[in-house]
Amino acid sequence: MPTLNLPPRVDVVEVGPRDGLQNEASPVSLRTKVELVDRLSAAGFPNVEAAAFVSPKWVPQMADGAALMAQIRRRSGTVYSALVPNMKGMEAALAAGVNEVVVFSAASEAFAQANINCSIAESIARFQPVADAAKTAGVKLRGSISVALGCPYQGDVRPQAVAEVVQRMADLGCDSIDIADTIGVGTPMAVQQVFEATGRVFPIKRQAGHFHDTYGQALANVLAALQAGVRTFHASVAGLGGCPYAKGATGNVATEDVLYMLHGMGIATGVDLRTVVEAGDFICRAIGRPSNSRAGRALLTRWQDAQRTEVA
Ligand code: HMG
Ligand code: MG
Repeated sequence: MPTLNLPPRVDVVEVGPRDGLQNEASPVSLRTKVELVDRLSAAGFPNVEAAAFVSPKWVPQMADGAALMAQIRRRSGTVYSALVPNMKGMEAALAAGVNEVVVFSAASEAFAQANINCSIAESIARFQPVADAAKTAGVKLRGSISVALGCPYQGDVRPQAVAEVVQRMADLGCDSIDIADTIGVGTPMAVQQVFEATGRVFPIKRQAGHFHDTYGQALANVLAALQAGVRTFHASVAGLGGCPYAKGATGNVATEDVLYMLHGMGIATGVDLRTVVEAGDFICRAIGRPSNSRAGRALLTRWQDAQRTEVA
């Protein structure tokens, strides 16, 4: 038997309600968002990225974060996380009872300017009071680094440049750090190189892979990152999403595909795949578009066929 040196368990963070829905052209109702988060909570994710307390002028789709947090059914054991770009967002996130706040910057100056309207150094300075407030409130702090495998404005990004931002996020006191392939250009060896560099400055087991699937590489990149020692992955139900400040970027790797692969390799996640597939079907019907998850579509067809056979 070939061995890939894989772990018995991996954490999957569901980011669909935030990273997925932030990019929807037409508004998604609060009721739909609440039901999506509730269905995902029921599936057993350790962490659901539910909202973003950002400027509604920049991302109008995320303007109802406080109402969402007030209406969801919280499952004990689930961390509800949200993006926070500054103290204004932090105050709103704390008032809403978020369990983990995510500060986000980039590995390229051009992308930081486009996404958060400041330089990387300015973003870190802006995050310092957020980090202090998180510590005082006893809320977890996560850092996210965009364009770690390529930037839509700058092109190539050096692994060392990513590691430098990881170091700054570590100095802020981040409990964990996400390495994000915002535009999905990374390939498996590039992913391993980036984690080799970031693993020198921050424990690899506290880093996460956040891979968008624009070039169809995301699932292979998850496997490559697993082999590099990464134990947490972000995924979006039905592969929803993209980034409003990365033109042409598509959704994250689909959660159903990641779970199918991990479970198929004997790696536990604690997440119920069937509940996720049904949540994917629910949100795709609600927003009127097909699922981007191959496993989700295949499983749904298989289950529907089996049901028809039973009835007949
Ligand atoms: P700015 O325009 O430079 O900031 O934006 P400002 O301080 O001048 O504020 C402008 C207005 O926004 C003001 O309102 C503020 O009060 C308000 P006005 O006085 O004009 O009426 N404002 C806020 N309102 C609510 N909540 C807030 C907030 N902050 C300011 N927190 C800012 C700077 C950072 C605020 C803005 O650029 C912003 O909100 N950017 C967020 C962009 C974003 O959400 N992008 C998508 C998420 S990141 C992502 O998807 C990547 C990730 O998935 C990883 C990956 O794949 O790469 C995480
Ligand atoms: Mg993203």
